[in-house]
Amino acid sequence: MNQITPLDVPSAIQQRRSIRAFKPDPIEPELIKQLVEFAVSAPSVSNLQPWQIVVVQSPEKKAALVKACTDEEISELRPRIYERQKIIASAPITFVFAADFNGWNKNTVNMLELAKQNGVYTDKEVKYLKKGIPQLFEQQEDKTREWAVKDAAIAATHLVLAAESLGLSSCMLYHPLENRVKEVIGAGNMPDIAIAVLVAVGYAAESRKNPGRLPLSANVSIDELGNPME
Ligand SMILES: Cc1cc2nc3c(=O)[nH]c(=O)nc-3n(C[C@H](O)[C@H](O)[C@H](O)COP(=O)(O)O)c2cc1C
Repeated sequence: MNQITPLDVPSAIQQRRSIRAFKPDPIEPELIKQLVEFAVSAPSVSNLQPWQIVVVQSPEKKAALVKACTDEEISELRPRIYERQKIIASAPITFVFAADFNGWNKNTVNMLELAKQNGVYTDKEVKYLKKGIPQLFEQQEDKTREWAVKDAAIAATHLVLAAESLGLSSCMLYHPLENRVKEVIGAGNMPDIAIAVLVAVGYAAESRKNPGRLPLSANVSIDELGNPME
């Protein structure tokens, strides 16, 4: 078990950089479980937890994921993106954060019963919400995919920061060839599943380089856009 003292949240946020080359050292199963537990501690719309997280670690699945993320057509123009396959190949683990946009339907009853056991909802509230939550999601049908993908990405962010805190490094990755990634995780014929983001995790084999951030005035405003924070 890794014996490091976890970094506090501000330090993990400050220190975290995208790492694109990893040592071959494996991550202990206990640590992987811890990471996933931190990821699923994330908030989600109505606490419906619509993520499906797949821990890709077997050599066969890793090779399939590398292949699924290889896109020769764009590689010459966009070398950073081409690196995606190399990043996955080098990382001992890649977490695929999928989103189930029917998750609200599947999880409402269990989530409410759990919250009741935990003293968060009364019987009356549970009865009301068992109808109210499905109604909300049916009315907002065009939003359910977006909400599920956002929730999965928020969970991925929790995992990335937890990894940094526990001595690991990571890189978030997009998935231009989503259907190929879906095939790898066994969701090829599941229309309700979308891939939110991939997260490669391992022990860093390169130094952290900070590409920097724009000044706050470029994209933070007070009260309304166009009134930049200085
Ligand atoms: C959703 C998402 C997708 C990303 N996809 C890639 C990618 O495909 N390839 C890559 O090399 N980096 C990828 N990155 C990492 C970004 O390039 C990186 O976060 C950014 O340059 C800022 O650097 P930093 O993370 O070290 O602060 C991605 C980051 C995010 C949040």
